[in-house]
Amino acid sequence: MQRLKRFWRDFVRRHALQFGLGIVFLMATNAVSVGIPQFVQHAVDALHGADAAGVDVAVRWALAIVVAGLGIVVVRTLSRTLFFNPGRTVELRLKNALFDRLLALPRSFHDRMRPGEIVSRGTNDTNWVRALVGFGSLQVFNTVMALVLTVIQMFIADWLLTLWCLGPLIGATLILRSSVARMFTLTMRFNTEVGTLSNKILETYNGIGVLNAFSAVPGAVRRFDTTNDEMERLATALALNRSWSLPIVSLVGNLCIVAVLYIGGGRVEAGTMTLGQLAAFTVYVNLLVTGLTTFGWMINAVQRGYLSLGRVYDILDAPLERETVEAEVPEPASRGFGVDVSHLTFAYPGAPDKPVLSDVSFHIEPGETVGIFGLTGAGKSTLLNLLARVHDAPPGAITLEGADGARADLSRTPVRAWRSHVAYVPQEAFLFSTSLRENVALAEPGPTPDEARVQSAVADAALLDDLKALPEGLDTVVGERGITLSGGQRQRAALARAWYKDFELLLLDDVMSAVDHATEKRLIEAVYRRSAHATTLIVSHRCSVLAKAQRVLVLDAGRLVACDTHEALIQSPDGPYARAWRLQQAAQAIDALDGNATDIAS
Ligand SMILES: Nc1ncnc2c1ncn2[C@@H]1O[C@H](COP(=O)(O)OP(=O)(O)O)[C@@H](O)[C@H]1O
Ligand SMILES: [Mg+2]
Repeated sequence: MQRLKRFWRDFVRRHALQFGLGIVFLMATNAVSVGIPQFVQHAVDALHGADAAGVDVAVRWALAIVVAGLGIVVVRTLSRTLFFNPGRTVELRLKNALFDRLLALPRSFHDRMRPGEIVSRGTNDTNWVRALVGFGSLQVFNTVMALVLTVIQMFIADWLLTLWCLGPLIGATLILRSSVARMFTLTMRFNTEVGTLSNKILETYNGIGVLNAFSAVPGAVRRFDTTNDEMERLATALALNRSWSLPIVSLVGNLCIVAVLYIGGGRVEAGTMTLGQLAAFTVYVNLLVTGLTTFGWMINAVQRGYLSLGRVYDILDAPLERETVEAEVPEPASRGFGVDVSHLTFAYPGAPDKPVLSDVSFHIEPGETVGIFGLTGAGKSTLLNLLARVHDAPPGAITLEGADGARADLSRTPVRAWRSHVAYVPQEAFLFSTSLRENVALAEPGPTPDEARVQSAVADAALLDDLKALPEGLDTVVGERGITLSGGQRQRAALARAWYKDFELLLLDDVMSAVDHATEKRLIEAVYRRSAHATTLIVSHRCSVLAKAQRVLVLDAGRLVACDTHEALIQSPDGPYARAWRLQQAAQAIDALDGNATDIAS
C-alpha cells in the first residue's frame, strides 16, 4: 500500500486530469450500456402487439440501439486512450528512473543483483506496471461501475429474479478468486524465472568464445533448457488456471439465463411480466457475466502489476552510496594527498568471515609513488578498490591527509567529491562500444572531448603507433561492437583515460602486464612525469615496474609482510619479492639469449 501511494505520487498523479476525464467517459459508456436493455424491452413489447404501428415503434427503438452502440464505440475509444496513454508515459519515466538509479548504485548492489535480473525488471516488469496503470486502472473503474449499475437496474426490474442469478454468480466468482490466488504465486515464481533466464542468456552470450573453445556448448544448452522448461511449466500452469477459471463464470452465467427464461417464461404466461421485460433481463444477465469475467482479468492485471511494481521499487529503493557530507574531502596539498592506512581489515559482504585484507597499516606521503607487490589473490586490487571507494573500508581505517594538516576519514567523505580527485585504472580494462577518442575522454564533463588533451593522453599511453594501424585512428569504434583491440592495447587505452583526467591520487592496477618491456619502460617514464604532483600507487607483479617506486609494499594473503625500497627488498633472499625478482631476471636473460627480447635487463 505504501508503495502504491508513492508510485501514485511520483509517477501517476500528474496524469490525474486525464484519468478524471477518462472516468467521465467511462461513466457515459456505462450509463448508455445499462440503458440499452430498456430499449430492447420497449422494442420487444412494441412488437408483441404485432400491428403495423407496433413494428414502426420497434424499428425506432432498434435504431436507438444502433445509435447508442455507435456512441459507446466513440466514448469507449476516448476513455481507453485517456487511460492507456498515461500508462506508456509512466513506463517511459519508470525506465528512465531505473536507468539513473542503476548508474548511481554502488558496486555492492551489482554484486548482489545479477544483470539478467536487472534486465528482466527493466523490461518484463515495467510492462506489467504499464498494464496496471492503463488496463488495470481502467478496468477497476469500468467493471466496478458496470457491475454496480447493472445490479441496481436488475433489482429495479425484478429483485427476486436478480437474487436467483446473483447467488450462483457470486459462487462462481469466489471460485475464480481462489484460482487468482494460485495465479499470484505462479506469477511470482514466473518473474523470478524470467530473471534467471535473462541472466543465462547474457552469460552465454558473453562467454560464447569460452564455451566454444572448451566444447562446453551442450552443457550450456542443458542449463538453459532446465530454466526454459521450468518457465514453460509455469506459463502453462498459469494459462491452464486462467482457461478453466474464467469460463466457469460464463458457464454459470448461461445457466442463469436458462433459469431466468424458465422462471420468467412462467411469469409471462401468468401475465405478471411482459416479454420485453424478460428480454431486457437476459441482456442484464449477459452484462453481469461480462463484467464478472473482466473482473477476473482485472484482478490478474492488477496483481501482476502490483508484484512487478515491487520488483521495480527494489531497485529504485536500493540504498545509494553515501552522499551525506559527514566530512569534507580536504584540500589536497601541492603534491597530492597523504594516505594513512591503520589496522585495515576488510572482508567482502558476500564472505564476511573471510578477510581479504588483515590488519594492514602503512603511511604514504603526498607525492610519493608506492609500488604494491603480491601474488594473485593477495588483496592488491582490493586495496585499490578501497582507496577508490568501489567498496568502503571500515570507518577510521583509511585517513586522508590534505593541505595544512587537514585530515578526514575517507569512508565519511562524499563518494563523488572524492572520486573527482582520483584516477583509477582497474585491472580489467573495459572499453565502451564507441570511438577510441570518446573512450579516452571518458572523464570529460563537457559535450566534446578536448583534442589537445586526447592527443597528449594517447601519446603518453604509447598508443600513437597503434593508432596508425587502426582504420580510422581515434575515430575507430572499439569495444564489443567495434574493432577488438589486443589486451595490451586495451590496457593502454584505459591508461590514456587516466591521463585525460585531472587527479591528485593515481591508482594503477597491473596496467602493464600485457605490454613488452620497451613499451613498459616508456609507460613507466610517463607515469612518473604525469604524477609529479600526485600520490601514486602502482600494483604489479613485475618487479621491473616497481623498481623505481620510492617504496614497495609486499602483500601476502592479505597481510603486509614487507615495506621497503626495491634495492632493500632484493637483498633479503627469502622474501617473495626477491624470489620473483630472480625468476623474472632469469626469464629475461633467456629471452635475450633467444634474441626475442626487445629490451635487455633494465
Ligand atoms: N567482489 C568480491 N567478492 C568477494 N570476494 C572477492 C571479491 N573480489 C575479490 N575477492 C577475493 O578477494 C581476494 C583478493 O582478491 P584481489 O584483491 O583481487 O587480489 P589481487 O588483486 O592481489 O590478485 C581473492 O581471494 C578474491 O577471491
Ligand atoms: Mg588484482
